[in-house]
Amino acid sequence: MTPIIEIHNLKKRYAPNAESREGNLAVKGINLDIERGEIFSLLGPNGAGKTTTISMMSGLLTPTEGDVIIDGHSIVKEPIEVKKRIGVVPQEIALYPELSARGNLEFFGKMYGLSGADLARRCDEVLEFIGLKDRQRERIDTFSGGMKRRVNIGVGLLHRPLVVFMDEPTVGVDPQSRRSILDAVKELNRQGMTVLYTTHYMEEAEELSDRVGIIDHGELIACGKEGDLIQQVGEKDAILLKIGEKAAEALEIVRRVPGIDSATFEDGDDGKVRALAGRGRRALPAVLKALDDSGFLPQSIEVIEPNLESVFLHLTGRALRD
Ligand SMILES: Nc1ncnc2c1ncn2[C@@H]1O[C@H](COP(=O)(O)OP(=O)(O)OP(=O)(O)O)[C@@H](O)[C@H]1O
Ligand SMILES: [Mg+2]
Repeated sequence: MTPIIEIHNLKKRYAPNAESREGNLAVKGINLDIERGEIFSLLGPNGAGKTTTISMMSGLLTPTEGDVIIDGHSIVKEPIEVKKRIGVVPQEIALYPELSARGNLEFFGKMYGLSGADLARRCDEVLEFIGLKDRQRERIDTFSGGMKRRVNIGVGLLHRPLVVFMDEPTVGVDPQSRRSILDAVKELNRQGMTVLYTTHYMEEAEELSDRVGIIDHGELIACGKEGDLIQQVGEKDAILLKIGEKAAEALEIVRRVPGIDSATFEDGDDGKVRALAGRGRRALPAVLKALDDSGFLPQSIEVIEPNLESVFLHLTGRALRD
């Protein structure tokens, strides 16, 4: 089946300004296919180019080079056809503060060409979906950040898009709204919608995504299923054991345990042993048994498994969140 989204050599150079005389090349030639029914997360730190990419995909910014094909239509050549098919939830909340939640949905619904009974029904459905039916008559400027976010998401769904782009929809919201937004993304996907989700939270990408693209400095530096990305970088699990006295002896014992590839003192703490293993949790019982046989009882035990953060660190030498 052809992908629902095809990104071809997408580039954006912003106009020259005081900071950059030749103009900032914010997106440097991204190629990416997204399949029908996927939740795809674009994970990257501040300034990576997520919003610039989404803005070009939704026709808000003209690409400097390249194109995006959505459901067979080019955003460059057929923006109207594309816009019928996509719902956009922008990073910055775009609502009229003095209108009610329903007032905003009605306003944006009319812009999408909905009217009459269809518009009313769609507003009801969307209000139900975002969990704000009982607050629909209240003004946006009396809403919490999380409630505004949910209305912002509702606006993006009004015209029953095939694909929805959500640009960091959980930034600055309370934990409860965050939970409800993540659940809403899963529910939309369950109903068949393809979702492109941007975030700089590794945990969100891990929870939601079928596949993840890691973006940094305008380039897609990795793309795939979380497990495959972690495997590709070849990071091992680490077992951290706080030993205290006679840790050198414990280190020698741990090193010889089957399943342990290597063991060293933790940087700057020679009371602590760091052992590496292909499967840390699997190796742990034998490690504890061997230590116990020699009279060692660790004060603390931690198994650290590589995650998307480790993949980012491995590829860039930096942490995802600074
Ligand atoms: N209108 C603009 N003019 C010039 N440079 C811009 C403009 N908008 C963004 N940039 C630059 O482009 C780069 C990518 O920015 P973008 O907003 O796409 O990143 P992002 O991944 O969405 O970041 P965040 O997580 O902070 O939202 C940054 O270096 C940013 O400073
Ligand atoms: Mg952004």
